[in-house]
Amino acid sequence: MQLSGKRIWLTGASMGIGEALAQALADAGASLILSARSLDKLQSLKASLPHAERHTVVQLDLADADSLAAVVADTLGNEPGLDVLINNGGISQRGLARETDLSVQRQVMEVNYFGTIALTQAILPHLLSRQGMVVNIASVAGKVGGQSMSGYSASKHALIGYMDCLRAEETVNGLKVLNVCPGFVQTNISVNALTEHGDTFGKVARSIAEGITPQECANAILKAMEKEKYEVVIGKGLSGWAPTIKRWLPNLFFRITANKNIR
Ligand SMILES: NC(=O)c1ccc[n+]([C@@H]2O[C@H](COP(=O)([O-])OP(=O)(O)OC[C@H]3O[C@@H](n4cnc5c(N)ncnc54)[C@H](OP(=O)(O)O)[C@@H]3O)[C@@H](O)[C@H]2O)c1
Repeated sequence: MQLSGKRIWLTGASMGIGEALAQALADAGASLILSARSLDKLQSLKASLPHAERHTVVQLDLADADSLAAVVADTLGNEPGLDVLINNGGISQRGLARETDLSVQRQVMEVNYFGTIALTQAILPHLLSRQGMVVNIASVAGKVGGQSMSGYSASKHALIGYMDCLRAEETVNGLKVLNVCPGFVQTNISVNALTEHGDTFGKVARSIAEGITPQECANAILKAMEKEKYEVVIGKGLSGWAPTIKRWLPNLFFRITANKNIR
């Protein structure tokens, strides 16, 4: 897909990978609908982008799945048609499965899975009218499990499963679906992660600090979009190789994850 001139709705645009994606997509000539909860951050991002007048800001909360169809109707009602939805907004979670409150498991699922699929379903007719693309920023944790991430990993596995089914159903109608699985990326994802009882973790984890930059991640995502790939893993070291190791040497992989907390 050629990105210049495309109309793209991007969630999680207020920081991290989303902010880097907004910059790279605006540089490539796309018109953006920038979404997250933090309105002030979205507005200053919009003002900083090339051709700021082409972009709009739409506040939404993925934790409130029932509100999203109305947000889509308000935003696209008068100007239907969208080329790409990038489902990037999300939260992480850190804590042992046995110690994590069910309310925390549900909260992660509400944002990363239910909110994301509700938004996708509401936007789908607009994408189908242009034979468009859904891009899902899942995770390597959506392909493999590890320690201290049961809720996060489950939510990303669920997202990939849903989106593989959507692709199977809608390819015949021209929809393209790309699942992106980043390893560690230097963002605030661990700072904003929920702990066992729902507090924020508040620290940059070492694995995250040693990851690739958001700009490197965004550039790789744009390449995958341009090539209309189905799935890409983006990352360095063990976080990039983990799905391949699990696929071909599963017993080795399960021994590694039982002995080492790589988060
Ligand atoms: N960083 C990594 O190592 C890594 C690796 C693999 C996958 N990912 C995935 O990449 C995506 C972006 O994460 P990031 O690393 O850039 O983390 P981040 O810096 O914490 O950014 C998360 C983004 O999601 C938005 N968000 C969170 N909760 C939301 C909600 N309830 N409603 C709407 N928006 C919400 C945040 O905006 P507001 O707070 O303003 O709402 C923010 O823009 C996530 O889906 C994450 O799972 C990250």
